[in-house]
Amino acid sequence: MADSGPLSADGNLPADFAVPSHVEEVKVQMATFAARHSAAGRVVVLITSGGTKVPLESRTVRFLDNFSSGRRGASSAEYFLELGYAVIFLHRHRSLYPFTRLYSGINLLDSLQLESGMGGCSSGQVVVVDQQALPNIAKVLKRYQVVKDAGLLLSVEFSTLSEYLHLLKAAAQALSPIGSKAMFYLAAAVSDFYIPVSDMPEHKIQSSDGPLQISMKMVPKMLSPLVKDWAPQAFVISFKLETDPSILLERARRALDTYRHQVVVANILDTRRGYVVVVTPDTQVELVLTDEEASRGVEIEDRIVSNLSVAHSQFIAQNQAA
Ligand code: PMT
Repeated sequence: MADSGPLSADGNLPADFAVPSHVEEVKVQMATFAARHSAAGRVVVLITSGGTKVPLESRTVRFLDNFSSGRRGASSAEYFLELGYAVIFLHRHRSLYPFTRLYSGINLLDSLQLESGMGGCSSGQVVVVDQQALPNIAKVLKRYQVVKDAGLLLSVEFSTLSEYLHLLKAAAQALSPIGSKAMFYLAAAVSDFYIPVSDMPEHKIQSSDGPLQISMKMVPKMLSPLVKDWAPQAFVISFKLETDPSILLERARRALDTYRHQVVVANILDTRRGYVVVVTPDTQVELVLTDEEASRGVEIEDRIVSNLSVAHSQFIAQNQAA
């Protein structure tokens, strides 16, 4: 993809991107979360997940979106938690969420039953879970409760591109004080194009006006200020998605050259669940799931997260030695 529009010299986003009213409050929450976990000896990962929404009208009826389900981000969050990370999950509203994602295709009401209750139950009935309908629910619930009770997962939501950009900047600044103990795992599919507020109609676009032509501006890439200014000591992983395998690795290498961060995880749209390449300035590692592994429910995110957590530990050790 082409490189994109400018940020000001101090890394401020263009005024076209409205600042969400809660951004300062969320920044404090993220900074407090990072400081608490870092003080307890934990590493912290900021995961971005899901797609951004780009409005076509100020009073938005229509918007552009993309394919991202948030599965990569949500499943990765679980594997990072298993490895002892504290996780800030910056995700698209209503995209897949850690733990609940495992039941996203299930109609909740089909997995519950009413049974006659014992004494003390005012309605005389209790709601019982059909564990056949929710595979592994007891195990998943136990794990979720441990994570929740320990406060290891901080959820932050975005919907629009503007919200994403401002919240990512806030997150980077909030995590900067913990230096190399912070990892950024940028799995979100962020729009490269937007319509500036000044060019946007206020009201619903009328189909009676005939075919619609829109002109969109380039969105500034956040990686550049993130790596250079906002969290310069952090371990940063970007993702590169293509549909044409012949250009994937060249694009991944170009991103590393341009932004000077640590890792690009390269994937192809159709094969992203079973194949990625982890690219660093000096290495290139293919991670592949066999059909047999996939049929047993092994997920490629398990492999990605294991690989990156080892690299992150080495990065922290190098930084401490320097
Ligand atoms: O959600 P799923 O359905 O599971 O799919 C996962 C995924 C395919 C979306 C994920 O694996 C993935 O590849 N995400 C990145 C998609 C992409 O190609 O991004 P990009 O080339 O537009 O951007 C490169 C990197 O910069 C990405 O890490 C992106 O999050 C980040 N970025 C992009 C634009 C922008 N303005 N700021 C950014 O920080």
